[in-house]
Amino acid sequence: MLRKIFGSSKKQPVDIDIDKEKLPRHIAVIMDGNGRWAKGQGLLRTAGHAAGVKTLKRILISADDMGIEALTVYAFSTENWKRPKAEVDFLLSLFSEYLAKELAEMHERGAQVKFIGDRTGFSEKLQQEMARAESLTENNTGIRFTIAANYGGRDEILRAAKLLAKDTNADIDSLTEADFEKYLDTFGAPPVDLVIRTSGEMRLSNFLLWQAAYAEFWYTNTPWPDFNEREFIEAIKEFAARNRRFGGV
Ligand code: FPP
Repeated sequence: MLRKIFGSSKKQPVDIDIDKEKLPRHIAVIMDGNGRWAKGQGLLRTAGHAAGVKTLKRILISADDMGIEALTVYAFSTENWKRPKAEVDFLLSLFSEYLAKELAEMHERGAQVKFIGDRTGFSEKLQQEMARAESLTENNTGIRFTIAANYGGRDEILRAAKLLAKDTNADIDSLTEADFEKYLDTFGAPPVDLVIRTSGEMRLSNFLLWQAAYAEFWYTNTPWPDFNEREFIEAIKEFAARNRRFGGV
């Protein structure tokens, strides 16, 4: 039975009545609908992103308490630079603020914080904050929490191909998929089992194209700021009931 303990800064194992081996190891979330949510409340789009950060905090705690191994969230895509400058600047300042406010608690929980995406697009200061979060938490053994920032699946695969081309030790003819994964930003993470998208869209939008090859997709009409632990558990329960065949019969 689910206990009402979400929100503690210490990991509080929670039992959601699903066999451990049926839990998704890696959940990826497309946190969509912040702008529409804000508009519906008569607020600026930026208020939607600020509300989205609160949801993110709750879902990370929930995933950690359930024993999910990895959670990856799409915070800023390579295409999001096309948004008005004020919104882009706000999102970038939210990343800094989030790290300043939440890093200590994530570390206390034993989370490993990672960033994927082309971080060279960000200011030196933000890049340093990202590197600090990663190095502080790299030896932690808890949930692997990855923030995709200036991330695009095609961009990641292209960058990986460039790294491979420059790797003089690579044996191209005998290269396997597992070898190629070493050049991806997500190296070391389990394959994505479940992709959750909020706010009614049913697209992958260039998210984790390689890693989600066999992921189950789950969506809800709820905009990200209104998404909660109950719906998160619903997605996981539905995942656990699905029959995954990975191309077999
Ligand atoms: C999509 O909603 C959401 C984003 C592009 C940004 C997501 C960012 C956050 C939830 C907060 C920042 C994250 C961290 C890690 C601090 P949208 O703006 O496209 O919504 P719309 O489709 O309704 O316009």
